[in-house]
Parts: sequence; structure tokens; C-alpha cells
Amino acid sequence: MRRLRRLRQTPQMRKLVAEVEVTAKDLIMPFFIVEGEGITNPIGAMPNICQYSIDRVLIALEEVVELGINTIMLFGVPEHKDECGSGAYDDNGIIQRAIRAIKAKFPTLLVIGDVCLCEYTSHGHCGLIKDNEILNDETLPVLAKLALSLARAGADIVAPSDMMDGRVEYIRNALDEEGFHYVPIMSYSVKYASNLYGPFREAALSSPQFGDRKSYQMNYLTPRDAGRAVNIDIRAGADFIVVKPATFYLDIIQNIKETIDCHIVAYDVSGEYSMIKAAAKEGWLDEVKLVHEKLTAIKRAGASTIITYHAIDYVKWQKEGLYEWI
Ligand code: PBG
Ligand code: ZN
Repeated sequence: MRRLRRLRQTPQMRKLVAEVEVTAKDLIMPFFIVEGEGITNPIGAMPNICQYSIDRVLIALEEVVELGINTIMLFGVPEHKDECGSGAYDDNGIIQRAIRAIKAKFPTLLVIGDVCLCEYTSHGHCGLIKDNEILNDETLPVLAKLALSLARAGADIVAPSDMMDGRVEYIRNALDEEGFHYVPIMSYSVKYASNLYGPFREAALSSPQFGDRKSYQMNYLTPRDAGRAVNIDIRAGADFIVVKPATFYLDIIQNIKETIDCHIVAYDVSGEYSMIKAAAKEGWLDEVKLVHEKLTAIKRAGASTIITYHAIDYVKWQKEGLYEWI
């Protein structure tokens, strides 16, 4: 008789036939950077995740590098906001200074800079506004200025998460004109207007002050938009394609993987993190095992890289041998 159970009898046999593995090199850890010194500010809805001042993130990163996580993503929490998000493209802004300090101490750590305005605008939208409308074309030059400023500060990758049409092409041209031919664009090509971003907006102080983001982020009732968006971005020169959120959108990841040749990055977002943390705190679910199952699922669906707030914990648990015999 054909017995599929033969290969499931021992941990060693199960390991031999395992087809997917998530390791430190697949993971990107996000960080929130605030002004000031000596600040480690825990985020209520994201246990274990903090806002750091630059001096403190430099300390936190020692462990990250030690663990073999080689890529981080930075979000700025500026002290001052204005209508047009001018703090975002200030060469002496919070993120620009953070990047310079981080690259000086850890030259080989890959630093990804977020290209968006919502943390820097007083209204909390990702683009410029006029009469409560989010302007598209007028926002593009601002995004390009921001991307350039990140590249000048030493960012290894720029990641537009704003969802304005045409921004990849616009940013690519701006980077190339200034000689940044080898700074890749990690585009949030497929980013849904999701209900899973709440904890992030607490961490980044980036909630929209009126309305919502549905006129620019994607509608989860229209899955076929995903392929179109990826094709447009690839033609415009995107080097990485981000799908966000991750676990509620595994069908989207798989579909892109099967139909389009590109490097997929899945963003396991704040709400996906917080749900597990909350359930684990109640003792309802096993966090260590669940995180393994979740990250494996995301990779199995077709993502090569995962942006996740679990990155540090996961790699620690892996090093401690907690995933040795699954
Ligand atoms: C917007 C942005 C969002 C996230 C990062 N940048 C979504 C939003 O506020 O609409 C969410 C990330 C997360 O939830 O972890 N530029
Ligand atoms: Zn934004």
C-alpha cells in the first residue's frame, strides 16, 4: 500500500522532506525612529516593538546584526508635520539622520527607506491634498524629492508605499538623473486598503485625519487589479514587488508568483502581528509555533522575502533550536 505516513514518522524524516524554510536572510525588520535621545518608547498595540531615538536604534541593531538579519526598514516619526509633508524630504530630517548614523556604524546592513508622506503630513494622508481630495500628479515630485533625499543619505533601497499612480517611473527617473542607477525600488505595487494597519498608525502617528485611504490603496474585492498593478510597476522599473498585507492575501501572492516573473516581498503587517501577540498573551495560541507556521505559509505562497515585526523573535527562536524538530 502507498503509505504517505511513512515519511511523517520521525522529526528527522519530516525534516528531510521539508520543502520550505524561512531563515534570517529572508526577513526584513521594521523600525520606528523618533526625535530625541535615550528614547525607547513601547507601542501599546504591538508588544515588544518600540519607537527608538537614533542613539537607541544603534544599540538595538547590534542584536539584529548579530542574529544575521541583514535588512531593516525605517519609518520616521517626525516632531513637526505640515500640509505638504516637507519634513519627509529634509536632508536633515529624522530618517535621513538615522540612515547616516546606521550606515556609519553598520556599513553592510541593508537599509530600506520608506517613501511616503503620511507620517509627515498634518492631515495624515499619503499624498498632497486639495479640498479634501488626495492629489496624484502633484504628489509625484514630492515623492521623488523624498526618494532622492533617502538615497543621498545612504539608503540602499527606496520603498514607495504611497500608492500614487505613476510614482515608480517618476522616482526611477529622478534617481537615475542624479546618478543613483543602482539604488533599487521596492514598490508597494499591491497594497490593500486593509483593516490591519491600525497598530502601525499608532506607532508611526500616521492616521488620516479625515476620510480613509480607499481612493488610493487597493480594494480587496478586486483581486484582478493585482496583476495589472505589478505589470505597470515592473515596466516602470520596480526591482521588488511588495504585497501587503500577507496572510489574508496569500492567493494574491501565489497568483503573482505563478503568472509574473518578479521578486515578491510580502509585508506581514502590524495587525497580523498584534493578533498573534494578543492571543498568545491570553494563552489561547502558541506564539512560537504560530509564527513559524505563518512565515512558512507566506514563503510557500511565493514570497521570497518577508517584512515582519516577528523577525528578531523568529530568528532567536530558530537559534535556540525551537524549530529544530518540527
Ligand atoms: C502607509 C503605510 C501603511 C503601513 C506602512 N506604511 C498603511 C497605512 O497606514 O495605510 C502599514 C504597515 C503595518 O501595518 O505594519 N504609507
Ligand atoms: Zn503613507
